[in-house]
Amino acid sequence: MGPDTGWWRDAAIYQVYLRSLADSDGDGVGDLAGVRSRLPYLRDLGVDALWLTPWYPSPMADGGYDVADYRDIDPLFGTLAEAGALIRAAHEHGLRLIIDLVPNHTSVRHRWFQEALAAAPGSRARDRYLFRDGSPRGLPPNDWQSVFGGSAWTRVQDGQWYLHLFDPSQPDLNWENPEVRTAFEDILRFWFDRGVDGFRIDVAHGLIKQAGLPHLGSRQAGLIEPPARHRHPYWDRDEVHEIYRSWRRISESYGPDRIFVAEAWVARPDRLARYVRPDELHTAFNFDFLRCSWDPAALRSVIDSSLQSLHAVGAPATWVLSNHDVVRHVTRYGRPTTRGRGPQHEHGGPVDLAVGRRRARAALLLMYALPGGVYCYQGEELGLDEVTDLPESVLQDPTWERSGHTRRGRDGCRVPLPWRGTRPPFGFGPDGSTPWLPQPERWRSLTVAAQERDPGSMLNLYRAALRLRHEHPALGDGELSWLDSPPGVLCFRREPGLVCMANLSPVPCPLPSHEQVVLASEPLEDGKLPTDTAVWLQT
Ligand code: NOJ
Repeated sequence: MGPDTGWWRDAAIYQVYLRSLADSDGDGVGDLAGVRSRLPYLRDLGVDALWLTPWYPSPMADGGYDVADYRDIDPLFGTLAEAGALIRAAHEHGLRLIIDLVPNHTSVRHRWFQEALAAAPGSRARDRYLFRDGSPRGLPPNDWQSVFGGSAWTRVQDGQWYLHLFDPSQPDLNWENPEVRTAFEDILRFWFDRGVDGFRIDVAHGLIKQAGLPHLGSRQAGLIEPPARHRHPYWDRDEVHEIYRSWRRISESYGPDRIFVAEAWVARPDRLARYVRPDELHTAFNFDFLRCSWDPAALRSVIDSSLQSLHAVGAPATWVLSNHDVVRHVTRYGRPTTRGRGPQHEHGGPVDLAVGRRRARAALLLMYALPGGVYCYQGEELGLDEVTDLPESVLQDPTWERSGHTRRGRDGCRVPLPWRGTRPPFGFGPDGSTPWLPQPERWRSLTVAAQERDPGSMLNLYRAALRLRHEHPALGDGELSWLDSPPGVLCFRREPGLVCMANLSPVPCPLPSHEQVVLASEPLEDGKLPTDTAVWLQT
């Protein structure tokens, strides 16, 4: 397969949030054997690959994004042998497996950090991280803020400080240190040798920090991304690309089917495109689409700018609506105004879940008809909403503590999946087990078993859309051309012979001429496309 035909150019990738997919042993936390038991479901859903959130040994201070050992599996999730069994079983089900790599920081429990703490300032062990002296007045070395809240520096016993762009339990690595680079190249080989099909790279835009670690001053921007106009001392530095060129050489040595996906929060589509140049990473999450409000003009502009920038470097676009870091899109779309609020914004007025689900159904058909690859975050195929009323006592996201209890964080989109039955744990774990986050009773109508019985369910819409993505020659990688449409309506054509129309206006809209309706997110009304509805037409 050449670079223009790789499987990843139009793959549908299902994100498994490992702690919350399926719990095989009843300890309340999802695990690898749980994932293995659900492979038939995932195959039947029609996705091409799975991306698993981190499975490594970890104190779980940030849901496993605090890695203590990159070459093993946390006992909570299973064993190395179980990981091998999962990789093989996934392949037997025709599913590829992508794992999460966390190169920006380790856990404080990582052997390297323990050595650094035991070593003296200026030592080789400390140089793997970013240790610095503070100011003479006892202040941190600079004014950088942690994404989770508070200063990005923590002081150790001998008075030095270490940098952590995230939680204090996640010290940032020093990517200027050649030992760090070599170690990660070996980690890539370790897992490629075990058969994984690729890596999702956590915080891919954050590895390189500007020499001298200058104050941010007025350049403080969004917490996870740089401002549009200025260079930033740690987000999206140009020097990061050399790292990815060396990683691409490694993946290529295993053949063209092993891939990388960048998690890079950047300011503009052209900056994102730099991560997916031909000799760098294969794809990158397109967060502009996820961040976009339910607004036709804004969506069209994001679609155009994404396609233009990514195609300029020969890379396919990817489209994503939800993940384990943002408010579930059923809830976002159900708010009175979807405009001007970031996807991580937890508040925003009363939520109308019926409106949210209707828009989510339309968004699915809109997104899955776009050129490129698509993501599905576990539970979105069930239309799950954000659980906004988790009791404070169960919140685990470090954001809650670090923000001084002002931001509840991301637990509401991480609640374990409902599979069957009428009461928690809804088949997530054995009957009688208690999931690590409580599931709302109202999810009894959203279980997989309930939705399988209902031809009009969200699950059956996802299954139909995914099946058509495989069967219809117009869907997947390729080009798109916009067609004229009334105000508030998005309409485009994919060749050969497929038109996608999404009505975001308040009035029903006539359909263009067509041979047949291939799939609609809601029933048509008098042959017209109702508000917040999308349709695929054969022409
Ligand atoms: C991005 C991950 O998706 C998020 O869950 C995590 O907290 C941060 N990176 C830090 O690793």
